[in-house]
Amino acid sequence: MSKTGFIFDLDGVIVDTAKYHYLAWKNLAEELGFEFTNEQNELFKGVSRKRCLEILLDIGNVKATKEQFDRWMVEKNEDYLTYIEQMDESEILPDVVRVLTFLKERNIPIALGSASKNARPILEKVKLLSYFDVIVDGNNVTKAKPDPEVFLIAAESLGVPPENCVVFEDAVAGIEAANNAEMLSIGIGSAKILSKANFNFDNFTAIDSDFLQQLVNN
Ligand code: BG6
Ligand code: MG
Repeated sequence: MSKTGFIFDLDGVIVDTAKYHYLAWKNLAEELGFEFTNEQNELFKGVSRKRCLEILLDIGNVKATKEQFDRWMVEKNEDYLTYIEQMDESEILPDVVRVLTFLKERNIPIALGSASKNARPILEKVKLLSYFDVIVDGNNVTKAKPDPEVFLIAAESLGVPPENCVVFEDAVAGIEAANNAEMLSIGIGSAKILSKANFNFDNFTAIDSDFLQQLVNN
């Protein structure tokens, strides 16, 4: 029997960086003269930086030249990085370390599967880098979630067949990507929003050891 591989999204699953992405996009929207709401931010979860800016400009009905578009991408990221700069272990979401430790103690392969190009520095900041056998992030993929590419590369790098992988995700696009990869999808957050997930939990605190052991056993 092949081992189960576990793949974690980063933003909104391991750390609550979704709020910093939101603040940085909101600041840019304000500079461009329109409002960007928390509800609209839901569309940005799991979505690449470039696609986020396209959606933001659509919301504000702003037309951009190529030069402006590129400059705003850089501006948003620089602003985002000022929030990230302050991060430490206190920003790890509840019970993430318990779940990672449970898997690590059993020698279960663990990967990160994130759309972010800032994934590595964030994991370093919160001191979680050593838990991950494999890191696949926005620098390694050509197709954004809901395309399964990020998770398929993670599975291959772990040496685990996709159908033996479990994915934890907080984004609609991420759950779709996991489903498209034929992996078991676990929604972390609103079950209403993540209704396509195979299982739903509000957070990791709601996931007990029995359930984790069942996942490990396939
Ligand atoms: C995802 C976030 O994890 O990464 C998105 O959910 C974000 O909101 C995307 O746009 C890209 O992140 P970054 O750090 O490369 O801008
Ligand atoms: Mg996410």
